[in-house]
Amino acid sequence: MIQFRKIWCSTYRLLFVLIIGAAATVITCQAVNPPFVIKHLGDGQSIVQIDEQRKYLLLPVEEASPEAKLYMIADNDVVRSMNVRLAINKIDYFVPVDMTGFKNKQLSFNFQLIADSALCWDEIKLSDEFDSFNREVFRPVYHFTPAYGWMNDPNGMVYKDGIYHLFYQYNPYGSMWGNMHWGHATTKDLVNWEHQPEAIVPDALGTIFSGSCVVDKDNTAGFGAGAIIAFYTSAGERQVQSMAYSLDNGKTFKKYARNPILTSTQRDFRDPKVFWHNDTHKWVMILAVGQEMQIYSSPNLKDWTYESCFGEGQGAHGGVWECPDLIELPIENTELKKWVLICNLNPGGPFGGSATQYFVGDFDGKTFVNDSPKKTKWMDWGKDHYATVTWSNAPEGRHIALAWMSNWQYANEVPTKQFRSANSVPRDLSLYTSEGETYVKVVPSPELLNMRDKGTKKRTFKVDRTYNLDKLLNDNTGTYEIEMTIQNKNADVIGMQLFNSKGEEVDLYYNMVEKQFTMDRTKSGNVAFSKEFPAVTVAPVDGTNEMTLRIFVDKSSLEIFGNGGRFVMTNLVFPSEPYNRISFYAKGGSYAVTSFTVYKLSVK
Ligand code: FRU
Repeated sequence: MIQFRKIWCSTYRLLFVLIIGAAATVITCQAVNPPFVIKHLGDGQSIVQIDEQRKYLLLPVEEASPEAKLYMIADNDVVRSMNVRLAINKIDYFVPVDMTGFKNKQLSFNFQLIADSALCWDEIKLSDEFDSFNREVFRPVYHFTPAYGWMNDPNGMVYKDGIYHLFYQYNPYGSMWGNMHWGHATTKDLVNWEHQPEAIVPDALGTIFSGSCVVDKDNTAGFGAGAIIAFYTSAGERQVQSMAYSLDNGKTFKKYARNPILTSTQRDFRDPKVFWHNDTHKWVMILAVGQEMQIYSSPNLKDWTYESCFGEGQGAHGGVWECPDLIELPIENTELKKWVLICNLNPGGPFGGSATQYFVGDFDGKTFVNDSPKKTKWMDWGKDHYATVTWSNAPEGRHIALAWMSNWQYANEVPTKQFRSANSVPRDLSLYTSEGETYVKVVPSPELLNMRDKGTKKRTFKVDRTYNLDKLLNDNTGTYEIEMTIQNKNADVIGMQLFNSKGEEVDLYYNMVEKQFTMDRTKSGNVAFSKEFPAVTVAPVDGTNEMTLRIFVDKSSLEIFGNGGRFVMTNLVFPSEPYNRISFYAKGGSYAVTSFTVYKLSVK
């Protein structure tokens, strides 16, 4: 049976209209012509007909609900489709469906798989506003987050004409993974971000998975000199590679009409990273395919030739390989350079779930040869560092990386609502050699120094057993950096605990005997949302007696850069208030903290 509901047609309004008369004509119109009509068709099918053009249809979401399918229809044609966890029993938040751009068209929505009794039918609204005001205690300040909705991998990072572009895996219709779009943001200084409209949206080939951008300076593709060209995976029933181009410096993209440009019979076939290879004078594409990387080349970015594959018997294989990158980096204190193949892996990381491994070797434009096939090298030793890729065309020969600061084990469950996931801080990559092995050195990008205030310094102190700094900062808002130098005398363990007044703590310690640095977040605050979250992560460190640490704290994350970037550890934490006390401890001997500064960090 067809049910029929009219929204806003309240008896009170009609009464009011009768009493007030002519002055209330506008309200009368609203009452007589409700802005939308809901028709239930049985079996979970409904149609919402929009009678009044507004900017947004606001949909109530309940994250525990299954996904309902929605088709947006303009003059009888489907113009968009999306999956939304529509509220059945309670509302967690609203998401907007943008209805602009359909002037003079009759809009309607076809809803599938949502019961007539669901709460959403009473709560769907039309509006010209969507309130994306931040109400989240765990939203970072200087890390990029989407204004609302879900984010995973950084995509298509490209620098052009003074602007760093960041595209990212984005769900605008909920704070859980789904409906993959390329979101877009820009920055001039790697610290202050501006949100931009969505760049690439799903189409008949599928949703828009991860990929990269290049600047086609010499017009090899024929779209125009200086075009920004995006490569992404169209994820439909199968995964294929597609391209889109921008002739207005990344503001808008047009999809190439002959997509897909590369196909395969393999199921996991994705995340194209494209770059120019100078020696062979060709474009190279590296793609993640199951548990290997495939390399293709092209003269024109449209026609691709298979060259080689890399992976069997190399590094960690606990899960699929994803989001590759291939870059040439200088080795510090030498004139030499080496190629680094970045390989994100999920699951199979050192502490469970997702992580970033890399290989150092040679690349001739066709084949990558790993220098150390027996060795697995991790770029970051925390649990929340994934999908790491670098900016294309970065200035001054820099190689700047961003990671997605989460882990597929629990990314959808972390205790935020209006948005989910942040990126890491930007990090500059180079190489160093230790005991005959070449490793990636990861340092915070120098632009991050601009966020510091003048800092609060402590005098040198010695730690025999314990030493407490009772207050890190006045008005600690959970957004700061600690920089310190430690001189060991004869301690076996050099430790420090960060506390808040609720007894929540993070324990950080060097074990000088085992040559390890550990972070324990098992008591760091809210750890109960996933059994995979309470974790202890461990990094190997060099056997030096002078150690430096830079610890970046931003509401719900700790990024620890140790010994000048020789190890990095990135972990999320969800404390109920900022950690504002630090307690140093020594075991088996003593050490001195020869410099200690806390900087408040802020953006413009
Ligand atoms: C990595 C990944 C990619 C894929 C994207 C989908 O986190 O699984 O391989 O393109 O996320 O959102």
